Amino acid sequence: MSAPILTVENMDVSFKIASENYKALENITFSVYPNEVVGIVGESGCGKSLTSQAILGILPKNAIVEQGKMKYKHVDLRELKDKDWRKIRGKNISMIFQEPMTALNPLVTVGKQISEGLKVHTSYSKDEMKKRTIQMMEKVGLPRAKELYKAYPHQLSGGMQQRVVIAIALIAEPDLIIADEPTTALDVTIQAQILALFRKIKYERKSSMIFISHDWGVIRNICDRVLVMYAGHIVEEGTLSEILNNPKHPYTKALIQAIPDHRKRGIELFTIPGKVPSLQDRKRDVCPFADRCSHRFDACDKEVPKIERIEGTHAAKCHLYTKEAGLHRDYTNH
Ligand SMILES: Nc1ncnc2c1ncn2[C@@H]1O[C@H](COP(=O)(O)OP(=O)(O)OP(=O)(O)O)[C@@H](O)[C@H]1O
Ligand SMILES: [Mg+2]
Repeated sequence: MSAPILTVENMDVSFKIASENYKALENITFSVYPNEVVGIVGESGCGKSLTSQAILGILPKNAIVEQGKMKYKHVDLRELKDKDWRKIRGKNISMIFQEPMTALNPLVTVGKQISEGLKVHTSYSKDEMKKRTIQMMEKVGLPRAKELYKAYPHQLSGGMQQRVVIAIALIAEPDLIIADEPTTALDVTIQAQILALFRKIKYERKSSMIFISHDWGVIRNICDRVLVMYAGHIVEEGTLSEILNNPKHPYTKALIQAIPDHRKRGIELFTIPGKVPSLQDRKRDVCPFADRCSHRFDACDKEVPKIERIEGTHAAKCHLYTKEAGLHRDYTNH
């Protein structure tokens, strides 16, 4: 396998709230390889956005990376100063958020905002920049690109605005795109169109992506590998098929069981009892999922499980599979 383009190792992130430190991410370790789309799933508040904010150096002011390594190719992301980040953001790594209007400047025309990445990162002439911007607008499915070039964001629909955001993210040809719930704010038919655009980007441009979503329908459509997050931990990782067809962690199993299924119409939808604990309510030094887990046993309240490789690319952070406490347990029939 080729070298990863992004590596995160043992990263912890904490918030300072009323002079107390609360751990929000713990021991985050994963890699992204060239040409692959890595999904991050998990309920609200599990740390999906925080993970991407830490990578991009855009954490909220009261959050700090306490430890860990983050590397983009050979660049140590934790060492970067603001001016170094300006060179990397857009050119190497770019980000797409849920709400297009928070990413767009309402006072600047669409064309100008898209071409900005070329202005910063290339030495193309004005005409060349305009030509490339219009080509990019066409690629992301913006109709009448020449006219739209001069439009302001509020003149566009939500779906069109998100296409503009995607064009901004792609224009300097980054090799890693981080998309945080990029379809969630859009209505269902537009969601499907934007997802189709992401698939096109995946297959045509072959850039790597981190794709954050609550929605397994979306994850299933685009991801090669999946990280499942719970209460600040990556509790399971594997290929899309390993996670969907052979989930190991009780949390992943429960999430999958909770996917709405049209064949089960009329049967009450399964929901996971309880909720993700807030930062202040998280217990330390125990399994973070123990309180909601239907397979809890003595080890779960004694220590945080280590991530254990199930096989190949598949790993889970659960005492049912740790050498110390589990492995001997027959979990196959659950
Ligand atoms: N600025 C902040 N100050 C304090 N706590 C925060 C802040 N931002 C996030 N958190 C907390 O950090 C945890 C992780 O938040 P994060 O936004 O990463 O969740 P998420 O998985 O992206 O959820 P969602 O699916 O709702 O977007 C949550 O408990 C959240 O309340
Ligand atoms: Mg989020």
